[in-house]
Amino acid sequence: MKALITAGGRGTRLRPLTNTQNKHLLPIANKPILHYALGKVAQAGITQVGIITNQEGREVKDALGTGEKFGVFITYIPQDEPLGLAHAVKISQDFIGDESFIFYLGDNMVVGGLEKFIDTFHKNKDNCHLTLARVKDPERFGVPEIQGNRIISIEEKPRVPKSEFAVAGIYLYDSHIFEAVHAIKPSTRGELEISDAHQYLLDHGFQVGYSEITGWWKDTGKPQDILEANRLVLEHTAAQNLGTVDHRSTVTGNVVLESGASVVNSTVRGPAVIGRNTIIENSFIGPFTSIGHECVIKNSEIEFSIILNDCEIVDVSVRIEDSLLGTGTKVKRSQGRPRSNRFMVGDQSMIEIS
Ligand code: G1P
Repeated sequence: MKALITAGGRGTRLRPLTNTQNKHLLPIANKPILHYALGKVAQAGITQVGIITNQEGREVKDALGTGEKFGVFITYIPQDEPLGLAHAVKISQDFIGDESFIFYLGDNMVVGGLEKFIDTFHKNKDNCHLTLARVKDPERFGVPEIQGNRIISIEEKPRVPKSEFAVAGIYLYDSHIFEAVHAIKPSTRGELEISDAHQYLLDHGFQVGYSEITGWWKDTGKPQDILEANRLVLEHTAAQNLGTVDHRSTVTGNVVLESGASVVNSTVRGPAVIGRNTIIENSFIGPFTSIGHECVIKNSEIEFSIILNDCEIVDVSVRIEDSLLGTGTKVKRSQGRPRSNRFMVGDQSMIEIS
């Protein structure tokens, strides 16, 4: 079995963070989102992995290299234009050959391993096996119609969803999917829709099975959503201390202190992760917070937030919550008179002050 992981797209819904970074490389609990997909695929024993990138794909190649450090061999497959997920499958046919494969949308995150899906796919001799997750807003996804325990149709972003399930971004296929992606036509948004390929399989008598999953996340464009992914991962992260904590500090719950991290006269309440060489001094770090590498946090309080590398947060009197700070951001108390708020903020940023 092989794996195909998507890592292209423009990430417009996560600007400004994605103005300078591919969204698949944004950190969740201090690891790029893409590492989770790759880690799970490797854990399932798959070694041949195709990664679909934007035309150039430099950033992703720099981040993942040959795949050696994950124990896999990566083949990069550039998609010249974002013509849809079924198009991504289509251009990967040479890489996949006749094998069955797992198609994993690199911006999706799930709790737990892939083995159970792979086993069910093989055991049921499905031609296609989908993962479904119960959601509040199925109209934003591919939605199955289910009768008994069989999928009888699938629609992409339907106005009136026929179930409360979304098709999540982990799919298993045998080579019949290639017949489908060659046959379907672009949708009104100009893309070859993966849901249309699934409908083609249903229409042509192929077996489409499914597994229900819990603990699934997919970005929907609000910072809150990426914070939610961070929460999901931190909740399942074991404590580890490779840093230092002085005797005046309290560290409770599952907290990861990466190497060189130091906590001085502070309280860190997990689950949380503090990156390499980051200094936390006279501060409070609350649950569900990821602080990146080489940051300085002094005389401040942060909770339920993601702070990327090289940030400085110093003397901030109001607790920072529900926040995402891009690399190298500085938040400091202004000095001198007049007392005022001063901003030097990039495009499409968002600031809420109390
Ligand atoms: C894509 C698929 C959709 C699926 C979703 C899961 O949506 O087209 O069927 O439910 O991924 O992540 P898109 O990300 O293109 O909106």
